[in-house]
Amino acid sequence: MKKLAIISVLALSGVLVISCNDNSKPARDYMPDMKDSRAYETYADHSNLSSKGVTYNNRPVAGTVSRGEELPYHLPNDSTGYAQSASVNDPLPRLNSTELEEAERLYLINCAICHGTALDGNGPLYKGGTGPFAAKPANLVGDPVIAALSEGTLYHVMTYGKNLMGSYASQLNRKQRWMVAQYIKSKQGAAESAPAADADSTATAGAAASTGAMAK
Ligand code: HEC
Repeated sequence: MKKLAIISVLALSGVLVISCNDNSKPARDYMPDMKDSRAYETYADHSNLSSKGVTYNNRPVAGTVSRGEELPYHLPNDSTGYAQSASVNDPLPRLNSTELEEAERLYLINCAICHGTALDGNGPLYKGGTGPFAAKPANLVGDPVIAALSEGTLYHVMTYGKNLMGSYASQLNRKQRWMVAQYIKSKQGAAESAPAADADSTATAGAAASTGAMAK
């Protein structure tokens, strides 16, 4: 009899608790960040989520690569990004001669107006300081500081620009920018080996002259 009383009290209080639940209001969310998925719908406005206590900022996680995206590049446009670009490797294989010709064509169209067809920083827009463009473009072959820049930094500069040089990201796609970086590097290599060859030939000429003098 005592048991029956306990059971009936429990059952009654259970009924009371359930009937007190107001179904017209949504239940309380304890961890809305976990409950609500990161729904992404095109054109949907997710900006009101913070009013519901969902605190994420609607953006994909940093470093996300979108589907089908090629040659992703994540370094930001700041001094840290610039410094880190030095260690970014060119994702393209080495260009063959036809591809280098295409890279040269892209360079001549986009860069030569300032940096010159000889990459010496003296294009028609600057013309030794007499041209309409006041800032001196970098000498891409004769300046050891520029010659020491990695392909990653060349890419970074083309992507974001530097000081008075603008970004070329809308003119050249990612692959084209890496191609131009390889083109500049190939020209720098050529410029580096040229003076060395000259020095060699003077040395040989000198040696020949001294041998001549000795023979006399
Ligand atoms: C409108 C003129 C102009 C054009 C076009 C231009 N540049 Fe420049 N570039 C400059 C100037 C000016 C600087 C010097 C910026 C500075 O350091 O203040 C510069 C600097 C550079 C540097 C040196 C960056 C460094 O870290 O010091 C590189 C590399 C470079 N340009 C590559 C390119 C390439 C590649 C293109 C073509 C895609 C290009 N530029 C197109 C004006 C130009």
